[in-house]
Amino acid sequence: MNQRYVRAASLSVLAAALLVACAQDAPPVAAPAAPADEAPATDADAVAPPAAPADDADDGDGSPAAADPELDRAQAAAAAFGSRLRGRLQAAMAEGGPTAAVEVCHAEAPRIAEAVMAEHGVRLGRVALPGRNRNPAQAADDWQLSTLEIFEQRVAGGEPAGEQLALIRDHLPDGVALRMMRGIATEPGCLACHGSDVAPDVREAILANYPHDGATGFAVGDLRGALWVEVPGSDPATGGSP
Ligand code: HEC
Repeated sequence: MNQRYVRAASLSVLAAALLVACAQDAPPVAAPAAPADEAPATDADAVAPPAAPADDADDGDGSPAAADPELDRAQAAAAAFGSRLRGRLQAAMAEGGPTAAVEVCHAEAPRIAEAVMAEHGVRLGRVALPGRNRNPAQAADDWQLSTLEIFEQRVAGGEPAGEQLALIRDHLPDGVALRMMRGIATEPGCLACHGSDVAPDVREAILANYPHDGATGFAVGDLRGALWVEVPGSDPATGGSP
């Protein structure tokens, strides 16, 4: 009853805060982007359009960013996941190069996700484009898939992959208050493990852990996948503001 529709205007903060990858210390992608019209999409009304510029200020549509505990939670969890994963991977890359970092990502990415989920009381993870996953557990499911498809259309229309953002409040299963998804762009630092020219020893390390890897062949600027967060609702009776 108490569902609020939060427009993307209050969300661009996320675009800056989230950087999720298995490693990156490369400069941000200069995406080959020209703004396109809103992608027509079947489910478009369930997915917030890419954020209009607006930071912490709540001067958007009169939707105060600060009064949204679920969004805060999603954002904090996503940021924690991104920075921890990145930290581990950067260290591993520096110590042992990409081959060693593959092992770290393999072992640590799921653990970091679990720790962050427990600490923040959300579910969260990364998914890949259809058929392009490395970890089979990270194939997109239905809502993730339909959201990714919308992202794909928008990126195909010229929008930057890393700016794709969806905030879903409607038609959610019982007990779920918010679903958030953000596009993950391919950056120069990703190519060692996700590009078209992965070094043989790195390729070998990847295939040893992921024999059916479909996550190479990406170019800088490509949509690599998405980060998703699912925030549970509070008790139905108390669902709104505390
Ligand atoms: C050192 C190698 C390495 C680098 C560099 C790397 N990744 Fe990965 N990536 C992996 C491995 C290994 C996995 C599987 C991790 C797991 O099992 O959860 C993965 C998984 C992913 C996934 C989850 C979906 C899937 O296919 O399983 C995404 C999204 C992703 N990487 C994006 C990126 C991006 C974006 C960058 C650069 C900013 C990047 N990665 C850099 C090795 C790497």
